[in-house]
Amino acid sequence: MKATAVANANIAFVKYWGDADPALHLPANPSISMNLDALSTVTTVVFLAQQETDEVIINGVPAGDTPLRRVTTHLDRVRALAGTELQARVVSRSNFPAGAGLASSASAFAALTLAATAALGMTLAEETLSALARLGSGSACRSIPPGFVEWAAGESHETSLARSIAPPERWPLCDCIATVSTAHKTVGSAEGHARAPSSPLYRARVEGAAARVAACRTAILTRDLPALGKILETDTVMMHAITMTSRPPIYYWTPITLRIIRAVVAWRAEGLPAYYTVDAGPNVHCLCEEADATEVTRRLEALPGVQQVRIARPGGGTRLIDTTAPPGYNPL
Ligand code: PMV
Repeated sequence: MKATAVANANIAFVKYWGDADPALHLPANPSISMNLDALSTVTTVVFLAQQETDEVIINGVPAGDTPLRRVTTHLDRVRALAGTELQARVVSRSNFPAGAGLASSASAFAALTLAATAALGMTLAEETLSALARLGSGSACRSIPPGFVEWAAGESHETSLARSIAPPERWPLCDCIATVSTAHKTVGSAEGHARAPSSPLYRARVEGAAARVAACRTAILTRDLPALGKILETDTVMMHAITMTSRPPIYYWTPITLRIIRAVVAWRAEGLPAYYTVDAGPNVHCLCEEADATEVTRRLEALPGVQQVRIARPGGGTRLIDTTAPPGYNPL
């Protein structure tokens, strides 16, 4: 009745921004991402006969109303699949800040999905887990398979899921993540998806997304960083142009975000191949080859306003872990 899972966050190369079906999180366009080995969430779920209601502890503190509701709604889906009404204790910890545009909900719902289904004795196929994780948070479906991952938009719950297109070892890309703020974003991605269609630019981005996904897949398979980088930056600017022209607008970038973007472009002109992407927050991901990661990190750290730089490499899929060790450690 107890299981622990670990999931990596992921960075979208072609992003999910806007829903075809908001209730099912069926996206308006397909997307591609890379799991990030350095950003992870570990979640333990235990279903207990004596538990009266679900209890959720996130990063050592009881979850507030909104996250608690999201977790219990997700547990309800798992309970419905397993045919049980047992309530659960959930203890979850991420090694990076939540809600700052670093995809904390992706790793959180991926880990929760695997831990909760395993705790109830279910062994689901990776594709089934991916679709189920999507109901918790869209981008969570991409944290279930390993490495480089493509989410087929699909037309139903069963067909909207993510699959690995290349294992992590395929390309030792580095994501140098510059944190400029760890504050919780003021407009969450659910609201961002809902507002996206109000932008006059929305349709144009959705229409071009499948072609960008195809080009991105080829760039990954051929390890073509300049080709990947071009798609990364185009799709980032398109997504943020939509947020800024949605009604009401959302400005995720800060002046420091733009400073980093301009610096990355300038470094490239000097011969340092790095490319930026930004999710729904102010922090900037800089993708580069392993050989350049130290120099990119050094330069990012020197920029005023950059609080921290972490390097993430392609991560694995969501997996169960043994919690019997180390001795004395009890996550519950
Ligand atoms: O999964 P959500 O609803 O948190 O949306 C994710 C949105 C982006 O991170 C900005 C893009 C993406 O594809 O991950």
